[in-house]
Amino acid sequence: MASRYARSARVLHWLVASLLLAQCAFGFWLDGIARNTPARGYFTNLHKSTGLLIGLLILLRLYVRLRHRAPALPPTLAAWQQRLAASSHHLLYLLMLVLPLSGYLASNFSKHGVKFFNLLALPPWGSDDKAIYAVFNQSHKISVVLLLALVALHLLAALWHGLRRDGIFSRISLRPY
Ligand code: HEM
Ligand code: HEM
Repeated sequence: MASRYARSARVLHWLVASLLLAQCAFGFWLDGIARNTPARGYFTNLHKSTGLLIGLLILLRLYVRLRHRAPALPPTLAAWQQRLAASSHHLLYLLMLVLPLSGYLASNFSKHGVKFFNLLALPPWGSDDKAIYAVFNQSHKISVVLLLALVALHLLAALWHGLRRDGIFSRISLRPY
């Protein structure tokens, strides 16, 4: 049986994964609300606020990951599988950073900025520039698609390990033992 991730890493994996998927659903739902209406303004600001909170949790997750090494993969996995797992995990971390960052950067090139849960105004530090906004907004949308595609592959890999009962799934599961 392979050793497991630290408890903090396991809890953060599932917390961040569920919040990220919910935030994606929120973003797509948001897209259906008519522009230039109070509802659109309200929910966009809420999306920005929850997105920034998730961004902070992602930073915490990265910190925990850097403090605790990932347990070594069992030798039953071929070298190419170990390389594939490592690179897909690195890419997942990269996208988890780019997603909130691109949303935050876009917000600073629009006059709205972020009103964090309508409690704290974070006024934009950039100019109200539609071209720069569009670059970051497009990066935000592209990174959503890339993240979801990679998560689908990640899920298939997890299912494959689950079917083989090779102990990989229990490395990250919330089971206490
Ligand atoms: C937004 C969704 C998700 C993201 C961003 C994500 C991200 C990650 C990352 C970055 C790792 C590597 C951990 C590390 O080495 O620090 C990991 C590990 C893992 N994830 Fe996910 N994950 C997500 C959802 C899921 C789902 C839905 C499943 C399965 C149902 C899953 C199963 C696993 C397993 C089994 C591992 C352990 C792999 C190993 O032992 O090396 N993940 N995940
Ligand atoms: C943390 C993870 C985040 C996820 C998973 C996420 C996901 C999404 C999704 C799925 C959409 C809809 C994309 C589409 O229609 O193609 C969206 C739109 C948007 N997101 Fe995020 N988001 C996150 C964080 C943020 C943050 C931190 C901000 C800003 C501070 C932000 C600002 C926006 C804005 C302004 C839109 C609307 C864009 C438009 O109307 O064209 N997002 N987001």
